[in-house]
Amino acid sequence: LAAGDVSAGKAKSAVCAACHGADGNSPSDMYPKLAGQHASYLYKQLVEFKSGKRENAIMAPMVAGLSEEDMADLAAFYASKEATPGAVSEDLLELGKQIYRGGNSESGVPACMACHGPNGSGMPSAKWPKLSAQYRAYTEAQLHAFANGERHNDPNGMMRDIASKMTEEEIKAVAAYVSGL
Ligand code: HEM
Ligand code: HEM
Repeated sequence: LAAGDVSAGKAKSAVCAACHGADGNSPSDMYPKLAGQHASYLYKQLVEFKSGKRENAIMAPMVAGLSEEDMADLAAFYASKEATPGAVSEDLLELGKQIYRGGNSESGVPACMACHGPNGSGMPSAKWPKLSAQYRAYTEAQLHAFANGERHNDPNGMMRDIASKMTEEEIKAVAAYVSGL
């Protein structure tokens, strides 16, 4: 895959802006922020919305007409932007930090930072996504979707395994924590 072209991606992103914002900072927490996410991860998600490996009724029609080049350009464009962290409420923050940095050895939840990095910035070469600054509602929804198997595009089921071991309180706490990273 050739590296995407940022300015071509910007031109192609007009249709996405209604939900994801002109610069990938979505105006509503109904839609994930894309700004600053790794191009490798974004590209994988777009390809998988198109193939149906990641099922989503809103995103499927959005990608249906996109070529591989379009998806690479869009991924490069959003990766070039910067996410604005949200205001963090203090509730559950301590538990969130504890899970994120140390996991829960009793239930077998690993430390999130092992893959998503101490600052939530992920690992582009491994397509491990950045989690920092993401809306709580989206992070919670993805953890629920992994836990119940609705989202099953994670390699080797690594996120399905982890999310299915988390309590509701842990999910809420870690989502709050990463929103402020
Ligand atoms: C998710 C890109 C248009 C609503 C996503 C994700 C990407 C993306 C990469 C996954 C984010 C992640 O995994 O962190 C795009 C692009 C668009 C576009 C490139 C234009 C071609 C739209 C529009 C809407 C929308 C117009 C609203 C009508 C959503 C929703 C999700 C999502 C609801 C979350 C899906 C889920 O819960 O799994 N989008 N998007 N997107 N997008 Fe878009
Ligand atoms: C994806 C959270 C631990 C590997 C995700 C996503 C979330 C998340 C919310 C979806 C991101 C998005 O849609 O934008 C967490 C939390 C963890 C944790 C809260 C700790 C409790 C780990 C660990 C690994 C890992 C330890 C590696 C062994 C991945 C990978 C994906 C992912 C590879 C991308 C899946 C795909 O390709 O679609 N994680 N994670 N995560 N996570 Fe984690």
